[in-house]
Formats: sequence, C-alpha cells, structure tokens
Amino acid sequence: MTVPLDQRPHSGPYSGLTVNSLKRFLTTQFQEAGVETPDLDARLLVMAATGLTHTELIISGRDFPPAATFDIIADYANRRLAGEPIDHILGYREFYGRRFKVTKDVLSPRPETELLIEAALENLRGKTGAKILDLGTGSGAIAISILTEENDAQGLAIDMSGAALDIAKENAAQHNVADRLKVLQGSWFEAVTEHFDIILSNPPYITDAAMKHLAPEVTGFDPDIALRGGADGLAAYKEIISNAPQYLKPNGIILLEIGYDQGPSVTDLLERRNFSDITTSQDLSGHDRMIKAAYKA
Ligand SMILES: C[S@@+](CC[C@H](N)C(=O)[O-])C[C@H]1O[C@@H](n2cnc3c(N)ncnc32)[C@H](O)[C@@H]1O
Repeated sequence: MTVPLDQRPHSGPYSGLTVNSLKRFLTTQFQEAGVETPDLDARLLVMAATGLTHTELIISGRDFPPAATFDIIADYANRRLAGEPIDHILGYREFYGRRFKVTKDVLSPRPETELLIEAALENLRGKTGAKILDLGTGSGAIAISILTEENDAQGLAIDMSGAALDIAKENAAQHNVADRLKVLQGSWFEAVTEHFDIILSNPPYITDAAMKHLAPEVTGFDPDIALRGGADGLAAYKEIISNAPQYLKPNGIILLEIGYDQGPSVTDLLERRNFSDITTSQDLSGHDRMIKAAYKA
C-alpha cells in the first residue's frame, strides 16, 4: 500500500527530511555501520515503508515522507543496523527476476544459484512435458523459477523442513505453478518414487570448520539445516549422488551447486557412480559453483 506523501515538513524523528534526504541519512548510517550496500539498502527500506516504487521514489524525492511511516522506517533501520539481512526485513528476495517470500525457515536464494536455472533451461530447450526434481527446495526458488519459464514442465520439490515447504507452497501459488509442483517432506530421495529428466540440488555444503567463520548475517538468519554439510561438507552430495541414478530417466542429468573448493571431490563422487560428461561452471567471481553430469547407463 502506498502512503500519500506529505507536502509540508512535520515533527518527528525524521522531521524536516525529504524523501531524498531521508534516504541519504539512512545511507550514511548504514555506511558508518559497515553495511555492504548502504545506498541500495536505504532505498529498498524507504520503498518498503512508503510503498513507493523506484520510479515514484525518484519523482517524489523532494516531498516529505508521511509521518505515519516514521516508526516503520526507524524499526527497519534499527534492525538493519543490528545486522538483520535486508531480505529478512523486507520478507522477500529477488531470484531469477522474480520475488520469493523468505522467512527464518528458508535460505534466502543467492544469485549464484541462478547458474542452475540457466543450465536446466538450456537442457530443457525443445523438450516437452519434462519432469524436474529439486532436492532441498527451501523457498522453492529453483523449481519454481524453472516451471515459470517452462510452462509444460512438472516438478517435485523435496525438503526435510516442513516449515520451509510451507513457504515453497506459498511461493508456488504466488507464481501460478502450484498445479505443476508437487511438494513432499522427506530426506533427499526418501519420498521420491518417480523418474526425472533433471535432478537439481543446492544442498547444505559448509564444513563444520567453515561454519565457525561465517558472517553473523548468515549464521544468525539462514537456518542451520540449510548450511551444514558435515565434517567434510560432502555429506549431502554423497547421499544424493549415490542414489540419483535410480531416479533419472535415460540420459537424465544432475545439476549441483557446490562450494568453491568442492569441484574435485564432487567430480570424484560422480565418476565413481558412473556419471559422464562432467563439467564445472564458475560464478561471476570466477569460483567453481556448479557441476553438471549425465547418466547414460
Ligand atoms: C542450501 S539450502 C537451499 C535452498 C534452496 N534450494 C536455494 O537454493 O535457495 C539447502 C536446503 O536443503 C534442505 N535439507 C537439508 N538436509 C536435507 C535432507 N536430508 N533432505 C532434504 N532436504 C534437506 C534444507 O532444509 C534447505 O532448505
């Protein structure tokens, strides 16, 4: 809902500040607190509090934000200054051009995971009625992004966490794919009985040792179950790769997000399970981030 802007300055915690100067004030506060993207965060929080779009924000930069939004802005700003990630304050995250609801029960989908979507869509080009399996779906971002792009594909989304699956279902309904996305609770393949053209997963892959060095913005807000990959970070890959061939259609493929240093270990697991055509792709920072492999047996 958009709150009408005030034409005159008013009293209150941000009294005398126009929309522009409020944005600048928050940017400076965030900068001083070491927030990574202070300008963007300030803009998103003012937009969320006032209901203004980006364009409206630019047009009304010299107006005064309604006093009714002061408490909301102060609450958002304090939470951001206390280290709460912007997506948790806003309640959503953009992924592959769409908005996904996120809460403390799901990992906020990360931009590097979009590599999996691109690889899946490339593989599905020209195929009709494809079936995809998303293991560890969280917010549902992977499965839902593919189904919204491929409108005759069907998906199955699995997660151990029932709370995460509730969010995935909401996101599926929001993006009009709920009728093509089945959602089941279970550990990896436990609840799976069908065969798929593509199995995708962004499993938990942080080693126990690395967990100790993660930023508080990650450990304090992303669920532990979405991060922890065991002593060597490979627990989920071992489970997924050893079972995947039973659930792939002939010439099916697997697409796995990996940690920057896990390429050789995950390649080894895939080779030992007789996967072929194994390729590793890099994210925008040049780090290994995704492995693709085919199963031809
Ligand atoms: C790294 S998050 C990925 C979430 C989402 N797919 C994404 O890319 O944004 C890993 C997900 O795997 C789920 N998970 C962890 N262990 C699992 C298991 N044994 N079986 C199924 N899902 C599991 C977590 O609940 C979490 O949602």
